[in-house]
Amino acid sequence: MHKKKIEVWEYAQQILEALPHGVLLNTKAETLNSMVIGWGSLGIEWSKPIFTVYVREHRYSRQQLDQNGEFTISIPMGAQDPQITKICGTCSGRDMNKIDKAGLTPVESNKISVPGMAQYPLTLECRVLQKETQDLSTLDASCQRHYPKDVDGYHTGANQDAHVAYIAEIVDAYVIIE
Ligand SMILES: Cc1cc2nc3c(=O)[nH]c(=O)nc-3n(C[C@H](O)[C@H](O)[C@H](O)COP(=O)(O)O)c2cc1C
Repeated sequence: MHKKKIEVWEYAQQILEALPHGVLLNTKAETLNSMVIGWGSLGIEWSKPIFTVYVREHRYSRQQLDQNGEFTISIPMGAQDPQITKICGTCSGRDMNKIDKAGLTPVESNKISVPGMAQYPLTLECRVLQKETQDLSTLDASCQRHYPKDVDGYHTGANQDAHVAYIAEIVDAYVIIE
């Protein structure tokens, strides 16, 4: 297994097209855990290449990120695996080891403490520079439906919780080749 280093901007289209179908946000603190994300931002801030993830306040992954502000983003090169999407997108790392359950293979990172996953080989290693809980009172009315007031924050789907934006520097980017 080796890694082919990439220029992240050359893969921008591929990353952003895969995102709404679900890519993996991997974290490592209490446990190694993967959650599916469909929202994210690729861009530039503080003159650095940035990937921002948006994680609802009561997600297990939020707790993990607050303990260790490093994460990897794992993006499939072809279609998403429906089993990975189901397990990592509807179950919580609080209740089970999703890595084992989804059959994911961790691959050690170059610069951070959190591994990537061989099954989704396009990998971004990221280090959080700032986190910010989004203020729902200033959010446009067209987006408020994503925060149903009657759904508890522990629900794994949409719920009343705001998102915490973790703005992270992309410190390495590559494709894992088996
Ligand atoms: C396609 C898809 C996209 C998702 N996108 C996000 C997201 O961007 N932010 C978020 O907080 N939850 C998102 N979720 C929900 C989490 O993946 C889900 O709540 C997961 O169980 C959280 O895992 P955890 O409890 O181990 O942190 C998404 C789920 C799916 C299926």
